[in-house]
Amino acid sequence: MSEKNHRVSRRQFLTYTLTGVGGFMAAGMLAPMVRMALDPALEAAGDSEFVSVGLSEDEVSEEPQRVDFSIELDDGWYSSEQSRSAWVLREGNEILALSPICTHLGCTVNWGTNEENPEEFFCPCHFGRFERDGTNIPGTPPTRPLDVYEVEVRDGMIYLGQINQRG
Ligand code: FES
Repeated sequence: MSEKNHRVSRRQFLTYTLTGVGGFMAAGMLAPMVRMALDPALEAAGDSEFVSVGLSEDEVSEEPQRVDFSIELDDGWYSSEQSRSAWVLREGNEILALSPICTHLGCTVNWGTNEENPEEFFCPCHFGRFERDGTNIPGTPPTRPLDVYEVEVRDGMIYLGQINQRG
């Protein structure tokens, strides 16, 4: 091959140079935009925050009591407040916070509303029943226990986190 074949023309040199500089500048401008676009979605994942439910540890007894509270939900760039409820009770040394959502088809359970079984959670939709600790009673429609919130006690106050399935 002759040396002439390896030479880069002025036009080619300018084309390569301008393409390289243009690409570099475009990457510099796009990188912050891509980061801004992805950041909220990445932050929202795997974040489990605890919220106070306005109940002190001393107020928790073996008798389930309902607490209503709200949580802040961040979905990408959109932030909203959602209402939540829990049945909080003491089970031995443990504090349980049960979800009121029936594990059969999602109706709301209440404590002690079934006259025949006043010491149970009762779901009026299909007569689902749960023990005081949220265990589903065999022979009734729900096939698994009520879900539980993660519980933390901070400065004597009850904080609830995410809901987890049992069983
Ligand atoms: S939804 Fe509760 S028993 Fe069916």
